Amino acid sequence: MAMQYKILTHHPLVPSSSSPSSSHHHLLPLRRHNHRTPAISAVETTLTHRQPPPKTSPEKAEIFKSLQGWAKEQMLPLMKPVDECWQPHDFLPDPTQPSDVFLEQVMELRERTVGLPDEYFVVLVGDMVTEDAIPTYQTMLNTLDGVRDETGMDPGPWATWIRAWTAEENRHGDLLRSYMYLSGRVDMLMVERTVQYLIRAGMDSGTDKNGYMGFVYTSFQERATTISHGNTARLAKLGGDPTLARVCGTIAADEKRHEAAYQRVVEMLLEVDPAGSVVAIADMMRRRITMPAGLMHDGRDNRLFAHYSAVAQRLGVYTAGDYADILEYLIRRRRLEKVEGLTADAKEAQEFVCELPHRIRKLPERAEEQAKKKKPNMAQFSWIFNRGVLV
Ligand SMILES: [Fe+2]
Ligand SMILES: [Fe+2]
Repeated sequence: MAMQYKILTHHPLVPSSSSPSSSHHHLLPLRRHNHRTPAISAVETTLTHRQPPPKTSPEKAEIFKSLQGWAKEQMLPLMKPVDECWQPHDFLPDPTQPSDVFLEQVMELRERTVGLPDEYFVVLVGDMVTEDAIPTYQTMLNTLDGVRDETGMDPGPWATWIRAWTAEENRHGDLLRSYMYLSGRVDMLMVERTVQYLIRAGMDSGTDKNGYMGFVYTSFQERATTISHGNTARLAKLGGDPTLARVCGTIAADEKRHEAAYQRVVEMLLEVDPAGSVVAIADMMRRRITMPAGLMHDGRDNRLFAHYSAVAQRLGVYTAGDYADILEYLIRRRRLEKVEGLTADAKEAQEFVCELPHRIRKLPERAEEQAKKKKPNMAQFSWIFNRGVLV
């Protein structure tokens, strides 16, 4: 039966609102649904499409099982051996040095961050909190049929990848956290509470246990984090902290390598099952690629995520334009317009995806027009001792 459901293609950083027929994708407690940043809610549009069918299917799980040899050859080499990996230690003052040397290094770090504005730290904290919810993302990958780690130390290549990926990602939050702790610029108690709230809340990426959709999500998401860490690196350099720039740039490079692995998976799926893959891409895009930390909360600000994402948008760290750019890049890279041998459903999906960037592009323009009419808004962030930042 054809059903109508609401599609939100507004700012990717902003959690989706609910509609009765998209209840599978509730990302936020109801209390937050009506509190979206006005400038961003202006880029929301409602499109109607056929309700996608249920996503779990045994055939898809079988495809991942049949690709185990491929994953071993094509995915696992993209993981670096631990001894060749950077560690947070490489970027931080060295506590094994004599006290005066260590303290001197700490003082240098603190002096370097003096020129960075509060709003920069708001974005950096938001990014760090997002990284620190790594247990949630490992859980998410382990929901995917045919891919999940069945025992906790499953020796298969998919499960091996999930654990190795988690272990690499785990360093990101660690490094950002230690750096900010030593800078003295943020209220660590509130940051730590936010992390705890976020891990408690979890997330639903809308992938429905479907590995196709899971890898469509991760390939998009890793590219989004490459862009956002790349931008915090650029801003750190401009603000006078080349070491922090190197920190963010090094994390961005990890994200890029992870993205490369996830792109390979989606490209492989397009080869072995073009119709199923195109439909999965469309379904994922209809649900939108939501940022994983949509449920962040500090116990105070019920609009914390919206406020954080508004600052990220304003500083150009991650914007609605980036969302459209990523999608356009993926369409081009996967030659989605040229995929042949599709079923009627898949053709419809192909058309939807290929037109989507154009539709999304129109939305920021509308938001900008609306924003011009509004007075600037301030939001207080507990992370920076309740000081206000323009949102
Ligand atoms: Fe990361
Ligand atoms: Fe990542």
